[in-house]
Amino acid sequence: MKTLVPIITVDGPGGAGKGAVCKQIAETLSWHLLDSGMLYRLLALSAINHSVALDNEAALQVMGNALDVHFTSIAGQDGIRAFLEGTDVTAELRTEDVGMAASKVAAMAPARSALLARQRAFAEFPGLIADGRDMGTVVFEQAPLKIYLTATVTERANRRHKQLLDNGQSGNLARLTEAIAARDRADMRRAVSPLRPADDALIVDSTDLSIDQVCGMIISEARARSLI
Ligand code: DC
Repeated sequence: MKTLVPIITVDGPGGAGKGAVCKQIAETLSWHLLDSGMLYRLLALSAINHSVALDNEAALQVMGNALDVHFTSIAGQDGIRAFLEGTDVTAELRTEDVGMAASKVAAMAPARSALLARQRAFAEFPGLIADGRDMGTVVFEQAPLKIYLTATVTERANRRHKQLLDNGQSGNLARLTEAIAARDRADMRRAVSPLRPADDALIVDSTDLSIDQVCGMIISEARARSLI
């Protein structure tokens, strides 16, 4: 890992606002952005497409090493687009089914280690903001600023529900709440790289904060630590 590259890690459970916060900070600072969850989702989708069982550790490790993915970020368009074997799979990656499959894949040590070098390669000047579950605890352990962003399960379910409605999709709030709680349990209880705050992480509860407020706090902290 290139330790001199300034890195901000943002870990936390799904729906805490990590994606929106990291995207906004990357744009504000013109830094690189790593959405590590997207890599786990891509590996899971690749397994599904190639009919590989989600508990086949050896096959997932081989697939993780050889994963044919690329990302594009087009000015004026929303966020990063992900391509798997040349096909734009961005929308498919965000489905609950792929999320659950990613959670299973992410519980396996060989799959995680297969994606490690790929994640570390994102550390480039002028800086990197890395979004995930183990950015501060494993992948970028030496990062000078680590954030653990969280929010209550109810608030996260409400946000996901609103997102679905805004996209013209339907969503059942009770089912979403249960799905989010189940994913939290899976991510926090797994043996390898469980979701937890790094010992030196700043804990930020976004339940009553806007994206702008969270970004403002992180950028002030980065300034205080002379990262920007
Ligand atoms: O953030 P997300 O919902 O896109 O992540 C998808 C799954 O991948 C989620 O269940 C947690 C897992 N994940 C992980 O284990 N480690 C990461 N660094 C990022 C995501």
